Amino acid sequence: MRSFWEERYGAPEYAYGEEPNQFLKEQLALLPKGRILFPADGEGRNSVYAATQGWDVVAFDMSAEGKKKADALAKKFGAEVDFHVGLIQELEFPKESFDALVLIYAHFPPEFRKMWHQRLAGYLKPGGTLIIEGFSKEHLELSRKNPKVGGPQNIDMLFSLEELQDDFTDFDFIECCGQTIDLNEGLYHVGTSSVIRLVARKR
Ligand SMILES: C[S@@+](CC[C@H](N)C(=O)[O-])C[C@H]1O[C@@H](n2cnc3c(N)ncnc32)[C@H](O)[C@@H]1O
Repeated sequence: MRSFWEERYGAPEYAYGEEPNQFLKEQLALLPKGRILFPADGEGRNSVYAATQGWDVVAFDMSAEGKKKADALAKKFGAEVDFHVGLIQELEFPKESFDALVLIYAHFPPEFRKMWHQRLAGYLKPGGTLIIEGFSKEHLELSRKNPKVGGPQNIDMLFSLEELQDDFTDFDFIECCGQTIDLNEGLYHVGTSSVIRLVARKR
């Protein structure tokens, strides 16, 4: 899988664009600024945006090519992101040290998803906010009709509300819904998509 992302991010263009995800942008505007973690951040479009808005940002991705692009984007916008190359299952951050945790199109193998979600949730302070946008299981049919919209082709890697609620057990869900939206993010998220958007607060 790592080679897939290295090849994708090794291309000159930003795979998902330079602009942040729209839902993330809306949600960040509602929160007091603090320390925020972006796991699986790809080429940095979301973490760099948060840094431009005054957040204290830590991000990581398995791809070294992703970090190169993220560093270049941060430089372009005069922003500072503490970006690491590494895997969720290997990197460690201090427990309960972040005010917000963001997972945008971060889809994991079903056998690890719950464990990794719980590991990441452990980095949030009590009262901290979780923000997720990702493809729902209903998306599979849409992506088969229109491959330009992207997303995992394994239905078990796509989200359901029930699975996410079961992964993040010690959270109060503020917003948690399935939506059909028109995505227009860079080269690989283009078209009608079925997504889950979630905001939850750690108890
Ligand atoms: C669809 S991309 C989304 C990137 C970014 N969040 C965005 O929205 O632009 C999924 C990302 O998850 C990363 N990823 C998947 N599994 C990972 C893992 N176990 N540890 C670190 N990164 C991972 C990949 O390298 C890839 O950059």
